[in-house]
Amino acid sequence: MADIINWQKTPRQILQTGPVIPVIVIKDVEQAVPLAHALLQGGIKVMEITLRSKAAIEAIHRISREVPETVVGAGTVTSAADLEAVREAGAVFAVSPGLTPALLTAGVRGSIALLPGISTASELMLGMEMGYTAFKFFPAEAAGGIRMLQAIAGPFPHITFCPTGGISAANYQKYLALGNVACVGGSWLVPAAVLEERDWRKVTDLTREAVNGI
Ligand code: 3PG
Repeated sequence: MADIINWQKTPRQILQTGPVIPVIVIKDVEQAVPLAHALLQGGIKVMEITLRSKAAIEAIHRISREVPETVVGAGTVTSAADLEAVREAGAVFAVSPGLTPALLTAGVRGSIALLPGISTASELMLGMEMGYTAFKFFPAEAAGGIRMLQAIAGPFPHITFCPTGGISAANYQKYLALGNVACVGGSWLVPAAVLEERDWRKVTDLTREAVNGI
């Protein structure tokens, strides 16, 4: 499927390919490629590397170059400059925790898919004004979780969400069962300690478990 899709500007397709997206903080760039392979082995090809570490940009670059069968995106993108930097590094999509008019404009003008974050109806409407129809819902559990997504489906039935923040093995299936949820994101698939220990088998096991539960 990845081969025949033009990943540019297709956030919905990226979300649907997930549909479980690991949100990752890579501190050591040497972890990037083995991690991507471990995730692929477990059945996950879409991954989000967050800009929360110095190694993030180089990690995105290496994964996009050395593991081309992955769909690598960048998380914690908060400015137009971030968006440009991750595009240059090879990210095919970008995720932001919230939105600003400047970031939304950069996303519309840019060449990679931007999934802006929202947690209120007003933020959603601001994004819709700019033409966006797919959003990250963040922080999902703290901002109302499943009940909020069900409520928001009433006035905004054509909007698609990727909830993240507080998603875990215990609740991800309930989110994926919602009609307006295309995928979920979360750090539970690649826990910091597991990454630190470079326990790639554990990453593959956690991944496979999540994929099998879909
Ligand atoms: C994100 O950036 O999407 C969240 O920080 C992930 O949240 P989690 O750690 O609760 O999964």
